[in-house]
Amino acid sequence: MGVVVVVGAQFGDEAKGKITDYLAEHAKLVVRTGGGPNAGHTIVLPEGKVVLHQLPCGVLRHGVLGVCAPGMVLDPKALDEEIRTLQDRGLFKGSLVISERAHAILPVHIAEDAWEEQQRSSVRPSSVLGTTLRGIGPAYADRYGRWGVRFGDLIRPARLADRLELMYAAKPYLKDVPDQARVVADLSEAASRLAPYVQPTEPVLWAAVERGETVLLEGAQSALLDVDFGTYPYVTSHHPSSAGALVGSGLPPAEVEAVIGVTKAYATRVGAGPFPTEVTGELGEYLQREGGERGATTGRVRQVGWLDLVLLRYASHFNGFTSLAVTKVDVLGGLDEIPVAVQYVTPTGETLTDYPPADADELAHVTPVYEKLPGWPKFHANLIHRIREEGARALPPELRRFLDFVGRESRVPVEWVSYGAGRDDTLWLGRTAGPPKPARLTAWGG
Ligand code: IMP
Repeated sequence: MGVVVVVGAQFGDEAKGKITDYLAEHAKLVVRTGGGPNAGHTIVLPEGKVVLHQLPCGVLRHGVLGVCAPGMVLDPKALDEEIRTLQDRGLFKGSLVISERAHAILPVHIAEDAWEEQQRSSVRPSSVLGTTLRGIGPAYADRYGRWGVRFGDLIRPARLADRLELMYAAKPYLKDVPDQARVVADLSEAASRLAPYVQPTEPVLWAAVERGETVLLEGAQSALLDVDFGTYPYVTSHHPSSAGALVGSGLPPAEVEAVIGVTKAYATRVGAGPFPTEVTGELGEYLQREGGERGATTGRVRQVGWLDLVLLRYASHFNGFTSLAVTKVDVLGGLDEIPVAVQYVTPTGETLTDYPPADADELAHVTPVYEKLPGWPKFHANLIHRIREEGARALPPELRRFLDFVGRESRVPVEWVSYGAGRDDTLWLGRTAGPPKPARLTAWGG
């Protein structure tokens, strides 16, 4: 099918990992194109639950190649441990390559991440970003400052020492970080175990595309955490958008066949930043409980809220979603009504429908206008059984109406619905929910 990009359409944690794993059945390659151990992709296999932080979910399937692409920042020791844990559990069934261009997160980056948050806190507590403290921001800063250590350096100890000398010279403000010799020694075991996986990855992708194989680009983080188009400064440090997936992988835009936006039927956010549709109080706690809304990486409780169509339309504009996967619809089962934000009103009375304020503070002060849709029943075993047997026909009519509404209002057809954590709990709807997508490309002169 060519290149298919999976993008989180909200603030992360939309169950992208689950959807990518489902789609991986038809793929030959699954590629992580950005981010690193800040991600936590939960996949429920027949053998048990797996949380992948740095590995693409393709490694879980026979005959699938997982690729850690150039755009990633990877923590070598954590990655080595993730591989070995999967191997020990007998779940590392595919194969893996790691780009020599991917950057390494070093202990100094982790120390810097904490130090930066402390600096923000000491100036103004509300400036704290609530990062995952995995060293992501500082590793990307070094990448763009050209101080970074790439995996091609990491696996050559003399080169690693040279690069570290330079990097440390650029950070005289950091105290109490392990000295360079200790870092080289500390990383040597993980680096030598990872070395066999390290190679040029772009030619592997180009060759697969040329053979006509399906290449899945597995997004991490999400559109609204994009460093440029998200809720800056409450964002991550790379581009989790569809364009970022191409830069991060080295694949050209013309090869993209589909961009799948993954959105929950409601919304969550972890860390700081504006969240216009946030729900607090008893109902918020109910959604947190029902949805198991606790961060897979940091264990932090996620804030919860209603689906926000202003942000979804915006995300669709800059990602070019060709279809949507709507996840966790089971969590809302049993509620009388489901509010969905269809527009914002600003403090000056302006109405916004597609483009939220770029300023985080202004976004925090909009008032969402909700349309309330009828709720659907709880997802009891009987309903799940019927959906598995009969497909879309067995979906509660109120849920169908909700999915149609989301497709129509976002102008992106809903193609999949996910109603549980397991591999089987996903239903393909075809392109019926919402309007058919108009052809985006027309022939020259036609
Ligand atoms: P960083 O990516 O660790 O620098 O964190 C920056 C912001 O992005 C924080 O608000 C994090 O909570 C958020 N974030 C980073 N990765 C994820 C993720 O995978 N899911 C949800 N939020 C994330």
